[in-house]
Amino acid sequence: MTTTDPFSSNALQSTSFDAIVIGAGGAGLRAGLLLAEAGHKVAIVSKVFPTRSHTVAAQGGINAALGNVTPDNWQWHMYDTIKGSDYLGDQDAIEFMCEQASHIVRELEHFGVPFSRLENGKIYQRAFGGQSQNFGEKQAHRTCAAADRTGHAILHSLYQQNIRLGTTIFDEHYAIDLLHNDGGAINGVVTMNMQNSEYQILQSPHIMLATGGAGQVFRTNTNASINTGDGLGMVARAGYPLQDMEFWQFHPTGVAGKGMLISEAARGEGGVLRNAEGDAFMKKYAPNVKDLASRDVVSRAIAIEVNEGRGCGPNKDHVLLDLTHLDGDIIKKRLPGIRDISMTFVDIDPVEEPIPVFPTCHYMMGGIPTNINGEVLTQNAEGQSEVVQGLYAVGECACVSVHGANRLGGNSLLDIVVFGRQAAKVISEKLSDNPAQDLPQNQDSLHKVYTRIKNWYNASNRKHGSTDDDIYKIKHDLQRIMEQGCGVFRERESMQKALGALPAIEERLERVGLKDTSNIFNIERLAAFELENLVPIAYATIASALAREESRGAHSRIDFEERDDDNWLKHSLYFYQNRQLDFKAVNLQPKSHEPFEPKKRVY
Ligand code: FUM
Repeated sequence: MTTTDPFSSNALQSTSFDAIVIGAGGAGLRAGLLLAEAGHKVAIVSKVFPTRSHTVAAQGGINAALGNVTPDNWQWHMYDTIKGSDYLGDQDAIEFMCEQASHIVRELEHFGVPFSRLENGKIYQRAFGGQSQNFGEKQAHRTCAAADRTGHAILHSLYQQNIRLGTTIFDEHYAIDLLHNDGGAINGVVTMNMQNSEYQILQSPHIMLATGGAGQVFRTNTNASINTGDGLGMVARAGYPLQDMEFWQFHPTGVAGKGMLISEAARGEGGVLRNAEGDAFMKKYAPNVKDLASRDVVSRAIAIEVNEGRGCGPNKDHVLLDLTHLDGDIIKKRLPGIRDISMTFVDIDPVEEPIPVFPTCHYMMGGIPTNINGEVLTQNAEGQSEVVQGLYAVGECACVSVHGANRLGGNSLLDIVVFGRQAAKVISEKLSDNPAQDLPQNQDSLHKVYTRIKNWYNASNRKHGSTDDDIYKIKHDLQRIMEQGCGVFRERESMQKALGALPAIEERLERVGLKDTSNIFNIERLAAFELENLVPIAYATIASALAREESRGAHSRIDFEERDDDNWLKHSLYFYQNRQLDFKAVNLQPKSHEPFEPKKRVY
């Protein structure tokens, strides 16, 4: 292999599996586990060592109507999730997720997840935003927690279970692009071993994307630097749509100016947001549940307080999360992680002093459209939904859609485990009927991947010449464009400006050179591949947000302040290849439960 042509010496080596899972967060590991348990030959591809996947950063917990602390049932959970989604979530999918939740949590407990305990030995459950008993009457405690390190606990248990069963894991391997057969069915993926830049083809009739979120498209975010939407980029380049990309969750309590997550658990345990006047301002915005309103409501409230001059600090640019009235031992026992973050990054012990916070990009409600079985969907020429053969997506990269326009805290860990497991179950059933066979890849699809990879080897030889541009500067500028054009509040003019700035980003990406020519952990080349995934995500986000002339959930337009169900109770679908937007209906019909009719959302 040379720095100019990674394929000059010989063709890529191919290895076949019954199923391939790309991504080793909670969704990918849960899927891998079911497939391995069923005796299938499964490979998991992960760009980091699996226990560094972003699930590790999930803090507050996982929702299930166990009723350990307050009376609860899954129908109340279903109602809260639909209301939280501002009625854009598909009700059949939400019903499926909430009904499964208690079983899923008990299953995790049996896998070894060390949940925190109540005095009576049952799993500890805390209050989180948007949770109610009896369809809105009283606050529920539904979030099952392992202190404030719940994702860490789940990820490690799932990883250990996979190791027990001997799942093949390609650590530090990066998936570049999907391959298909002559009939269009997805049947392979080209991967790069990051340790030595060797490429290979992994082939299977069942390829599952579990690549997580893409919060790196915004400058201030809670996401790991690995969250670059790699699955979405692959799908967009393959010609399939991205759904509901205008809906990004800004978590109300990121560390001000830095972005790291301070869990909603802090408010669940009794923390209160205060402005510069010391006023606990949430009572103005959500008179019933105050600081435990859903995240879109709390983030907007903070932004309004700051915009209207009641922000704290010398620049009046943040508010304070006050835990000082709580018992210090409770903070140490139930919130050790956020105490650590706060002491490390802002030198503040929340037992003694309030934490400076401001909304930060946290979660992508949109993603790769799928059905409940994780099968990826596209639109055919007649505008009908159609399954993309061989391709599945689960977890944050997928849009089932269970979160609609706004996700409730604690529903993300639930989503990844429920749908990772379900998609794997469906693949396992298909494999029992039709064992995997080697399928030849379409030569054009291979050629496109080769060309893309070679481009970055040629880029290593490009002279920077007159330009001092580099990949990291381009990424930073993209993040700024997104922050300024498509943040908590949006309006036409700034979004048009942001959309108009994207072609220049693409042009710079075509011209830029790479300084690092080595084949050993070439992080600059990796960043180039990742940036090629963030660009379609930026296009999809702004184009869908510009088109949606209403405010719903996390999409808040100052030029269209009201929700408009007559015109906009529908999902957006953005096709990056031809830069076109399409729409599809929201499923308002659960399978067995009565539908929840859209109504005004108040907290
Ligand atoms: O605030 C949090 O602990 C985040 C939880 C979530 O996003 O579900």
